[in-house]
Amino acid sequence: MAAILPLLILLSIQASMAELCHRKNTTLAGFEFDLAMVQHQLRGIVRVLDGCSFSVRGFDLLPASPAARWWAAGGTDLHNLTLGSPVSDYLLNRTFSNETLTISLKNISWDQIPVLAVWDPATFSELGHVLLPSVPPDLSPAPSPSPFSSSEASKHRANRQLTMFDNCRVLSPKYRLRWTLFPETNSIEIGLEAAVASQFYMAFGWASPDSWSPSMINSDVAIAGFTEEGTPFAEDYFITQYSECLLSKDGRVEGVCPDTIYEGSDPVGLVNNTELVYGHRRDGVSFIRYHRPLVSPDEKYDVAVNFTQNMTVIWALGLIRPPDSLRPYYLPQNHGGPKFDSFGYFTLNVSEKVDDCLGPLDAEDKEDQDLITADGKMESPLVVSSGPALHYPNPPNPSKVLYINKKEAPMLRVERGVPVKFSIQAGHGVALYITSDPIGGNATMRNMSEVIYAGGPEAEGVPASPSELLWLPDRNTPDRVYYQSLFEPKMGWRVEVVDGGLTDMYNNSVLLDDQQVTLFWTLSKDSISVAARGEKKSGYLAIGFGSGMVNSFAYVGWVDESGKGRVNTYWIDGKDAMSVHPTSENLTYVRCKSENGIITFEFTRPLSPSCTGRKECKNIIDPTTPLRVIWAMGAQWSEHSLSERNMHSVTSNRPVRVLLMRGSAEAEQDLRPVLAVHGFMMFVAWGILLPGGILAARYLKHVKGDGWFQLHVYMQYSGIAIIFLGILFAAAELRGFFLSSVHVKFGVTATVLAFAQPVNAYLRPKRPANGEVPTTKRVIWEYFHFITGRCAIVVGVAALFSGMKHLGSRYGSENVDGLTWALMLWVLIGALLAMYLEYLSVKRARDGNSFRGSWVLGNDEEDDSVDLLHPNRTHVESDPNLSGRMEVQLEPLNR
Ligand SMILES: *[C@@H]1O[C@H](CO)[C@@H](O)[C@H](O)[C@H]1NC(C)=O
Ligand SMILES: *[C@@H]1O[C@H](CO)[C@@H](O)[C@H](O)[C@H]1NC(C)=O
Ligand SMILES: *[C@@H]1O[C@H](CO)[C@@H](O)[C@H](O)[C@H]1NC(C)=O
Ligand SMILES: *[C@@H]1O[C@H](CO)[C@@H](O)[C@H](O)[C@H]1NC(C)=O
Ligand SMILES: *[C@@H]1O[C@H](CO)[C@@H](O)[C@H](O)[C@H]1NC(C)=O
Ligand SMILES: *[C@@H]1O[C@H](CO)[C@@H](O)[C@H](O)[C@H]1NC(C)=O
Ligand SMILES: *[C@@H]1O[C@H](CO)[C@@H](O)[C@H](O)[C@H]1NC(C)=O
Ligand SMILES: *[C@@H]1O[C@H](CO)[C@@H](O)[C@H](O)[C@H]1NC(C)=O
Ligand SMILES: *[C@@H]1O[C@H](CO)[C@@H](O)[C@H](O)[C@H]1NC(C)=O
Repeated sequence: MAAILPLLILLSIQASMAELCHRKNTTLAGFEFDLAMVQHQLRGIVRVLDGCSFSVRGFDLLPASPAARWWAAGGTDLHNLTLGSPVSDYLLNRTFSNETLTISLKNISWDQIPVLAVWDPATFSELGHVLLPSVPPDLSPAPSPSPFSSSEASKHRANRQLTMFDNCRVLSPKYRLRWTLFPETNSIEIGLEAAVASQFYMAFGWASPDSWSPSMINSDVAIAGFTEEGTPFAEDYFITQYSECLLSKDGRVEGVCPDTIYEGSDPVGLVNNTELVYGHRRDGVSFIRYHRPLVSPDEKYDVAVNFTQNMTVIWALGLIRPPDSLRPYYLPQNHGGPKFDSFGYFTLNVSEKVDDCLGPLDAEDKEDQDLITADGKMESPLVVSSGPALHYPNPPNPSKVLYINKKEAPMLRVERGVPVKFSIQAGHGVALYITSDPIGGNATMRNMSEVIYAGGPEAEGVPASPSELLWLPDRNTPDRVYYQSLFEPKMGWRVEVVDGGLTDMYNNSVLLDDQQVTLFWTLSKDSISVAARGEKKSGYLAIGFGSGMVNSFAYVGWVDESGKGRVNTYWIDGKDAMSVHPTSENLTYVRCKSENGIITFEFTRPLSPSCTGRKECKNIIDPTTPLRVIWAMGAQWSEHSLSERNMHSVTSNRPVRVLLMRGSAEAEQDLRPVLAVHGFMMFVAWGILLPGGILAARYLKHVKGDGWFQLHVYMQYSGIAIIFLGILFAAAELRGFFLSSVHVKFGVTATVLAFAQPVNAYLRPKRPANGEVPTTKRVIWEYFHFITGRCAIVVGVAALFSGMKHLGSRYGSENVDGLTWALMLWVLIGALLAMYLEYLSVKRARDGNSFRGSWVLGNDEEDDSVDLLHPNRTHVESDPNLSGRMEVQLEPLNR
């Protein structure tokens, strides 16, 4: 009774209102207009009854604030709507499901209502609207086929909306199929609507009429969903296998693949004939409208729909994996789940009228905005900028809104007691403030009151000179406040103020590469507690200890089908799914949760595993040395049977070196360019100049003149100069000199040997005069020079190879293998050349003056009197024909 009484009062008020109305005729009487959905899953058809009342049928609405009502405004923009006024006292303060309402206008006539809106004055939110023409709409059939049927019911229906269809069928409690048939144009428009997260696809299509039992195989489906940027898509797919779309090595395509992939390319557009018409995500509900021909020209990958016949249709909901460089199409993942909840089939005759969708779809999680958690890191403030409004959560809104860390109007989570630092660079005229007012833009200007927690007119800046704002939420800060611009309403969004969180539980935190993952940790005596949080929606989050995915220990957190958070450990030794080997590390305090699609996982593990033998026993964390950490995120993970579909879709570009003791991190520089330059210099020195110089000294002596000597000296000196530069370059870029590695040991040895050469060349005893027996000193010197030089080359070449190995272990061996082979080939060619020259010189020695030769290593043609070290030394002519000494052929040591 108590409930009926106010209702009666309400009705009587309405009745009296109606009496006040002068029953003016209106030219709009009898016309029907679709309500445009803006928020809260609003649908319905408004019918103008007469000059002062209208009715709404099929009215669906999710509850807004208790103040929501029918509203008259001059336009659909924020300014006009704010200036509008209510048209009736009727409150839209509850859920409406397929209801019929009759509303009387209060003190207002139709010509004062260009826009009839559903408006929530408490939050300045528009839920939906109808644009009313001032003259009756001309509804004579359009010359071109209109996207809407001209069935008898819609003679007077204008403003047809893309969210409205003739038919609707419930597929599962969270998934609906809507459609309108256009038999005369051989087409059908299909609306897929599901209360799922934005990373889900919606699939619907016709099974092959030739198969006996309903089967996915050979069915023609449309896959619809949203890209990571939030743009809708709908694509024509064809199913040949119960698997994700895979391209085999021989070019065959199998699985759930786009029609266009089977055909290779689609120049004439014959197979790509599912056409997106419209799509949006509102209140956690995905809605996509697409168009397809009933009987399509593509007979291979499309099922012809006979609209008068019962046909089997199939549907599914599941996670989608965004395209990557290897597979440039959306990959629907296995839907899993119970039948008729996440997949199903039934018989459908599209020409039958069906409507069993009662009321609006009510998603459990209506929050679609990105979530940003402020962790009180003073060195990485939240960057506040402004940008175009693409998916602002509370329309209507200005065309420019606030972005935080490059995300549009995200939800911001802060902790009481943890300071938040903003770097405001949103441009002049956009000043940030934290307020209790959900609309912002200085509530005083709207005669409202607000509490300002931080910021004000001076909190504005541009990227060149950002202004900083520090805000400390305290015990008295309410759970929900707003960040807004002081000068314009509705540019910002909500701030959630919470008690405690990862920041309080962990002593340290750093952002990993790309600022997409935050790593938290606390060190204790022999264990470490680690938490990782993805700053982006994903199906799983993985962090790895290692400098790349290959050869890393990985920790993967995900929420399984039953909703339980899981963390598993792996050892990865390759780039495909087969190389991900589960390990059994002893993790304690394991937690994993997904909130708004943001995954957070935590675990505690010993610094040094208490086992031996297995791979994971080598996963030792030494807090005194930097720990290299990488990350990856992807659509779906599973405990068993990992496959290609579990591969990540985004990953870190480079490891971050986390200094566990200091609590800081530095990005690992990509040293490849540095190492490439160093490697090239060393190759020129050790692979070309120094051996070339030795060859010149050994095999060019028979050439007349002192050319060989000049060549020898120039080559060796330039080689040594390049070595010197190469070492300096590497040491400067690597900021240090680490004697620990094999490569550096070889390199240093070779360099010392090489640098010894010019020194002992300087100290060399005088060359014997012609015919003289060389002094013992000279002989020793020559041996020394000879041996040191060749040793230097051998060690230098070893250093080249060890450098390659080093590079391979650092950046994956596949890039380096080719270079290593090329280097081996080079060395081989060098060796063969030396052998050939050796052969020639032996032959020459035998053919010519067999006794020609010199005891000393340099024969008498040697002319080091043209001394490059001491050019003023006297030039001693030598007689090339005088020779009676034996030449001792010492085998080159490096061959
Ligand atoms: C309203 O329209 C009816 C018929 O459509 C007409 O008889 C009546 O005179 C009109 N009244 C006014 C006030 O225009
Ligand atoms: C209000 O709406 C009218 C009509 O749509 C439009 O001409 C006008 O520019 C709007 N006012 C503002 C401030 O946008
Ligand atoms: C909605 O508003 C009406 C009229 O003010 C009131 O009687 C009713 O209790 C309200 N319902 C809810 C759910 O708040
Ligand atoms: C299919 O055609 C539409 C335009 O009609 C185009 O936007 C889309 O990229 C095409 N899809 C493929 C996979 O070629
Ligand atoms: C559709 O099916 C009906 C029988 O249900 C048949 O008479 C008609 O020829 C079929 N139409 C086409 C285009 O195949
Ligand atoms: C189509 O299916 C409905 C039930 O789903 C059935 O009642 C009807 O007889 C079927 N029509 C034909 C032509 O098979
Ligand atoms: C919605 O209401 C109309 C008339 O009030 C009725 O014909 C229709 O079946 C209802 N739809 C549902 C899904 O209940
Ligand atoms: C809001 O506007 C009023 C009136 O213009 C002004 O007095 C007040 O200082 C403004 N508030 C802030 C926080 O700037
Ligand atoms: C985990 O703990 C068990 C028992 O304490 C031990 O046998 C096993 O080797 C440990 N494994 C690792 C990876 O530490």
